[in-house]
Amino acid sequence: MTNANTWERLRQAAFDVRAEAYAPYSNFSVGAALLSRDGRTFVGCNVENASYGASICAERGALTSAVAAGAREFAALVVATGARQATPPCGICRQALLEFAPNLVIRSYVEDGGYEEYVLRDLLPHAFDRSQLE
Ligand code: THU
Repeated sequence: MTNANTWERLRQAAFDVRAEAYAPYSNFSVGAALLSRDGRTFVGCNVENASYGASICAERGALTSAVAAGAREFAALVVATGARQATPPCGICRQALLEFAPNLVIRSYVEDGGYEEYVLRDLLPHAFDRSQLE
C-alpha cells in the first residue's frame, strides 16, 4: 500500500516533470511519476513530434526509463495534467504498463489537487498478455 506521503511525493514529481513536456501540437502537457517496488521514482513527460504518430506519452516515457534502470516491478503511478477533470492513461500506455504491473494503482491528478484512482487491470479487461504467447 502506498502511503499519503508517497502519493504526495509522486504528485509533486509528476507536476515537476510536466513542466518539461513538449506538446506544441496538442497543448496538453502531461507528467508521470512511476514508483518501483524497490522505492525508486521514475518520471516522464509527453514528447510530441511533427509526425504526430511519433509522439510518446508521459507514462511510457517513465516506464522506459524505469526498465532501462533495471526496475520491472511497480506499485504506483501518478499522472499529472492540466485538464479540468482527471484523465486515465491512453490505451497504448495501459497495454505497455500491463506487461509489468497489472495490479498497478494509478492516480490521475488535476492542478487543484483533485484526483481519480484506478487499478490498471480494471482499465484493460481481457488484455492480451505474455501468457497467451505460450
Ligand atoms: N498523453 C499523455 O502523455 N498521457 C496521457 O495519459 C494522455 C495523453 C499525451 C499524448 C499527447 O501528447 C497529448 O497528451 C494529447 O493526447
